[in-house]
Amino acid sequence: MNKFFLNLGVQPLANNFLKKFSSKQPTYNLKLYFNTKTKMVSISKRIPSSVMFNSKYPYRSSMSITMRTSFKKLSDEIKKRFNPTLLLEIGSNDGALIKNFDKKKVIGVEPCKNLAKITKKMNYKTFDKYWDFQLATKIKREFNSVNVVYSANTLTHISNLDNVFKSINHILSKNGVLIIEDPSLLECLKKNSYDQFYNEHIYLFSAISVKNLLSKFDLEIFDIKNLKTHGGSLRYYIKRKKNKKIKISKNVKKHINKELKAGLGNFLTYKTFSNKVIKSKQRILKILNNIKKRNKKILGYGATAKAVTVLNYCDINNDLIKNFTDTTPEKINKFLPGKNIKIMKYKKNILNDYDYAFLGAWNFKDEIFKKEISFIKRGGKFITHVPFPKIIKI
Ligand code: TYD
Repeated sequence: MNKFFLNLGVQPLANNFLKKFSSKQPTYNLKLYFNTKTKMVSISKRIPSSVMFNSKYPYRSSMSITMRTSFKKLSDEIKKRFNPTLLLEIGSNDGALIKNFDKKKVIGVEPCKNLAKITKKMNYKTFDKYWDFQLATKIKREFNSVNVVYSANTLTHISNLDNVFKSINHILSKNGVLIIEDPSLLECLKKNSYDQFYNEHIYLFSAISVKNLLSKFDLEIFDIKNLKTHGGSLRYYIKRKKNKKIKISKNVKKHINKELKAGLGNFLTYKTFSNKVIKSKQRILKILNNIKKRNKKILGYGATAKAVTVLNYCDINNDLIKNFTDTTPEKINKFLPGKNIKIMKYKKNILNDYDYAFLGAWNFKDEIFKKEISFIKRGGKFITHVPFPKIIKI
């Protein structure tokens, strides 16, 4: 049974960056639910994939050093550990992972045509289609089976998970390995990062819910890694239950026990989280209003989907945060979804005109602090809402 635990209010589509601000853009009510049987946490509203992931999708995996380094490291690990003759990536985005592989040994699947175009241009085999059984059948016909299927921050974006795993099951070789990574529910609860929820993040996985889901497909987790990416993610290494050649690492049980101990299987945990989120809203508004009273200026740093959830839930407007800045070309000179706040092109020393920077991309704070050392040296301060709203002392 799905039980409601948090209402994050009326929200715009998190990646709907508009050239001209309009108060009439599409919205939905962002409500969070916990399934008492499957232990899956999800949002209730399902926006059609074609509305969210189309040729205007602005998110680019290669936009930060942190992500580029993470994909490079993983590619080296995959080659060493699994030596795949063919790897398929679901949600290959701008090729941040696949470009580390030999062109003959990888296939990308990327429904956003603007992104698929980038990897096609680099001569990587790319299907600009949504991941489903029809596509899996087509790829299987052409390439036979695949020994590694990889997907980062994509499967949680797809509503019909049964179809996703049925399709993976169809294409994965007998001894094949599936590697998926997505933000971790445990980290989200620990950091009170309610901004992990927005229309694209239909699910927030835990090892417990992934284990339950996989068992329907005779698949099981054989290893788990904690990642720092996206504010704390988990990488799940998955195999067929029948494949006894691969041993199950102790990490799996250890991590599941950690989640159980933190109460991820109990509804009450989510009610506690919900109360903390309400307090977080009150506190961030207090901080921003105090700064406004002192006539100091704040720049939003990183026009992330996460920031869209925060700004719209807390009703933060351009009287509190004047502008945002971002490095993504597709977001420049557009408005932060739902808010009349313009995104300016990032340039060195952009923070010279500001006293504070609100971390929309708090998950990249180390990279950002390094980059903005002169702002920090002259007394500029960063504001974050994670794990609780504060002005950061560096
Ligand atoms: P991410 O946190 O992955 O966003 P989302 O919540 O949308 O999944 O994306 C980081 C965003 O922050 C991306 O739009 C690029 C931007 N960014 C900067 O503008 N400057 C930076 O130094 C960094 C690290 C990111």
